[in-house]
Parts: sequence; structure tokens; C-alpha cells
Amino acid sequence: MHRLASVSSHGLVGRSSQMAAIRRVIDKAARNRLPVLLLGESGTGKEVVARAIHDANPRGRFVPIDCGSLVGTLMESELFGHVKGAFSGATENKRGLVELADGGTAFFDEIGDLPLEMQVKLLRLLQESEYRAVGSLQWHKVDLRIIAATHRDLHKEVAAGRFRLDLFYRLNVFAIRLPALRDRKEDIPLLVRHFMEAGQASGLPWMETTDELLETFQAYDWPGNVRELKHCIDRLSALQSEGALQMSDLPSPLQHSRASGNLQNLSGAVGEVAGTELPEFAMAPRSPVISLPQSERHTITRALVATKGERGKAARILGIGRTTLYRKMKQYGIE
Ligand SMILES: Nc1ncnc2c1ncn2[C@@H]1O[C@H](COP(=O)(O)OP(=O)(O)OP(=O)(O)O)[C@@H](O)[C@H]1O
Ligand SMILES: [Mg+2]
Repeated sequence: MHRLASVSSHGLVGRSSQMAAIRRVIDKAARNRLPVLLLGESGTGKEVVARAIHDANPRGRFVPIDCGSLVGTLMESELFGHVKGAFSGATENKRGLVELADGGTAFFDEIGDLPLEMQVKLLRLLQESEYRAVGSLQWHKVDLRIIAATHRDLHKEVAAGRFRLDLFYRLNVFAIRLPALRDRKEDIPLLVRHFMEAGQASGLPWMETTDELLETFQAYDWPGNVRELKHCIDRLSALQSEGALQMSDLPSPLQHSRASGNLQNLSGAVGEVAGTELPEFAMAPRSPVISLPQSERHTITRALVATKGERGKAARILGIGRTTLYRKMKQYGIE
């Protein structure tokens, strides 16, 4: 127990020097209320770090806000609330997420996806600590800690005119870059153990790992980072029958990674394990001609059908964040 508690301080597993540095920055960030910008590839733990910063010095609530999931008036009203009669359908006054986060932390996830017209409003919130509900003339003051995260390169977004430079400067006061899992592979065995224990706690059978298996995990580059590793462990534990895990149980990109250094994303391949399929994970037809995007599109659709369109549930099954799911749905034109 103690050993685990020490490796997972702040809810973060990992003993690499990179993780130690991240823990120190979390402690520093927790001492003030400056805006924090979390950068890093998908699945590197940006949300885990955002929560850790809040929890290290908890004040008020931690309110996650998906910047990619809402557009136009709906988003503005979701963020800032609206007054009765502000638009058709606004039959009551409604409080927004920003008001909910007052006194606490607002986590703007996928800030790089925030539409330009909303960026102006967020800038005002950052500069003046005030906002206006849709349809209201009155400004309200708030006391917020703002944490923002994105997998995008904000310099590029600024250069392309999609992100306001002034907002970028405002947010970039305290930037934390989360390393890709391939750049801290020494953390992989600990993470594997952590996810196995978590799986066991939620009723999945225990898996015995071998050195060979861990070496294989360390040889793979995990383009989907910690999220992909977690997904892989969950799927393997769910699919295996009790006992030691065999090399042949592994999805093929992992089996081949040592030889080829293949960067292929696993998510489409995990269904091949041991010829079994969990019904809700039903995979795309396994013909060699199907492309990864096709297979991904198919898998997402199946997950949405299986959950009757419940996106949160579908995202959990797929092992990706809700924002990532929204983005991919948009990308593939899935309604
Ligand atoms: N250092 C870590 N220790 C333990 N679990 C971790 C760590 N980093 C990430 N995770 C787990 O990996 C998954 C992905 O993490 P998280 O949602 O924070 O990533 P993200 O950077 O926000 O990804 P995305 O850009 O896709 O939203 C979560 O299940 C999280 O609990
Ligand atoms: Mg996230």
C-alpha cells in the first residue's frame, strides 16, 4: 500500500525524472491562483494534472468545461448562463458553468478548439474576472482559478489566425508540458501494475505479467499515451481467462513493435485478442483492406449504437476522453 501511495502522489503514477518535475510544478502551481496551461499529446494525463493542481489546495469546485463540444449561443449560455427570454427556448434564468466554478477551478479542456468569438469572452474573464450572462446587461465578478489544456500547438493556431495572441499570452503564464509516454518508458511497468490493480478492484481477473510482456510494452511507442496503455490493459484483463498472459494474447502491433518500431495505433487492433469479443467492443470487419480511419469510424459508431447515443458512456468504452470523441465524431461526420 505504502509503495503505491508513494508512486501515485497527486494521483499520478510514475517515477521518471519527468514525472518528478511535473509533481514539483503541480506543488508550485497549487500555491497561487495564476492561470495554468497544460500542453501535451492526447492521453498524456492533462486532466489528471489539472485535478491534481486543484486538489493540492482545494478551494471550491473543480468544473471541467469541454471547449470542443458546444458552439454558438449554446456554448455561451452553457458557460455564462442566460436570462429568461434571451433567445427562443430560454424560458428560465439559467446559471452557467463559470458561476458554478466561482470560488474554485474552471478547467477549459481543449482550449484550442474554442471558437474565436468565445475566446474574446474568455479573455475578458481572465483580465477582468467578470462575465455577462446571455441576454443580460449586467457584469458579474467571479473569483476563479483557470486551468486550460490542449493537445494542439497553440503557436501554430495563433499563426493560422485560429487562436488569439492576447489570450495565448494570458494563458501561457504557467505552462506545463506533459511528456509523451514514449519519452518516459521507465514508467510503463508501474503504470501497467497500477491499471491492473485498478482493474482487479473493479472486478476484472488478475493478470500475471512476465518480463517479456513488460519488455514488449516498453518497446511499443504508445501513440495514444497513458490512455492507450490503460485501454490495452483493461481490454486484456477483460478478455483473458485467468492465468499468465501469453505473448500471443497481445494485439499484433504490440507483438511486432519490437521488430519494426511500428507506430500504428492499437485501438483498432485490440479486438483481435484471443479471438474473443466483448459485445460492446465489437470491432470493424477485419479485412486487410480496411483503413485505420475507417475502422476507427466504425468502432465509434458501434460504441454509440451500443450505448444508445450516450456519448459519455461511449467515450468510456472506447477509452478516450469525451472531447476526443466529439472531435472524432465531427471529423468523421457522425451525428
Ligand atoms: N501519470 C498517470 N498516472 C496514472 N494514470 C494516468 C496518468 N496519466 C494519465 N493517466 C490516465 O490515463 C487516461 C488519460 O488521461 P487524461 O484524460 O488526463 O489525458 P488527457 O491528456 O486529458 O488526454 P486527452 O487529450 O485525450 O483528453 C486517464 O484514464 C488517466 O487516469
Ligand atoms: Mg483530456
